Amino acid sequence: LYADKGARAYHAFVRREPLSQLAYGHRLRDPYPNYEVVRARGPFVRNRFGHPTSVDHAICNEILRSRRFGPRAEHEASGPGGEEGDLSFLTYNPPDHTRLRRLVAPAFGPRQMRGYRGLIEQTVDDLLDDVEERGSFDLVSGFASPLPIAVISRMMGIPDSETEGFATYGAAIGTALSGVTSLRHAARLMQASRALTDVFTRLFELRRREPHDDVISHLVAAQGESITPEEMVPLCTLLLLAGFETTVNAIGNGVLALMEHRDQWERLVADPGLAGGAVEEVLRFDAPVQGTSRVSFDDTVIRGTPIGRDELVQLRIGGANRDPTVFDQPDRFDITRPNAAEHLAFSGGIHYCLGAPLARLELAVVFGALARRLPQLRRADRPVRYRRSLVIHGPAALPMRVR
Ligand code: HEM
Repeated sequence: LYADKGARAYHAFVRREPLSQLAYGHRLRDPYPNYEVVRARGPFVRNRFGHPTSVDHAICNEILRSRRFGPRAEHEASGPGGEEGDLSFLTYNPPDHTRLRRLVAPAFGPRQMRGYRGLIEQTVDDLLDDVEERGSFDLVSGFASPLPIAVISRMMGIPDSETEGFATYGAAIGTALSGVTSLRHAARLMQASRALTDVFTRLFELRRREPHDDVISHLVAAQGESITPEEMVPLCTLLLLAGFETTVNAIGNGVLALMEHRDQWERLVADPGLAGGAVEEVLRFDAPVQGTSRVSFDDTVIRGTPIGRDELVQLRIGGANRDPTVFDQPDRFDITRPNAAEHLAFSGGIHYCLGAPLARLELAVVFGALARRLPQLRRADRPVRYRRSLVIHGPAALPMRVR
């Protein structure tokens, strides 16, 4: 399988992931009891850095949708600042956000999604042939990571010879989402970011000479009009990271939840048509992106809490998804929950996940195929290790048995 090398490189990286200082004392596996402590104390609690932090669904939703909050302050430049690991329009405000999001949005349209279904089904089938033969396997390296790597590589037009570097450097840069932990970490990030820049630069050259029907060819063609040369690498880095770290962890969290709630797994096995509902409940129950943040453009008051202009607010999506005022018995995992899709796992407002249709498609194919082909799937009797991050949440390794 052409994504296999990429998956192995990714996995080797995840095993050595540095522990963010912020994550000390944070329950990596089960952050939910901590969120309940926050909820009991009111709409906002100040975290150890003094930032107002909320697990309230209505508040998170309101702030994500508000045009008076953004990923950075209103008076800062809205676009690229030239920093290492720049994640493009995810961290920009309008008008730069709007322009760049519009440029890549067509790649996620319904026609394109229909075009990916075959690739996703085929990749999942090939991976399942392989794990069936082996009998026991690590879900993360042997199944969850090769799939999104294959899809995002196809979408962007990454040739096989580059997938290994693409996956390793991408994973390294992904660790920056939780903050830079040490000088060594910073040096590794810088190195990864330069190496990834080289991969992309080679590809831009290649696609300028030989355009294909892929995102990179499309960007190269738009360069100079709706995208500047400096904006190209950050945009590609965003697509790589957003398209793959999140999906790997959604698959890991989903399989873990289904294994730990065997009755729900049995329901899915009996009716794989429930896979779409399972996707929403997995995203609600154990969100792969546990939090995000916004900066206020004004002095304001939200539910009695004053928020200053330029103040950073932490929104814990994972906690909002367990808000009992929205979700009945929020700690229950129920793949037929009627309003599971009200989760905030894909955020909200103008930064709502652009890849949500693709993620939903990948996850529905995955959960449906697992239930059909491996009804006896079980966790091996070994502990799960978790990603050491406050933002990206999911297992780093999940040993499984097929029979
Ligand atoms: C943005 C989650 C899959 C591309 C986001 C945000 C979240 C998120 C929470 C917004 C963060 C914020 O508001 O600060 C997820 C989850 C996924 C997933 C949970 C899988 C289960 C994907 C995929 C792609 C993708 C497969 C693309 C291939 C993007 C992009 C943005 C984004 C481009 C930036 C949107 C903007 O700022 O306007 N995602 N994502 N995501 N995601 Fe996803």
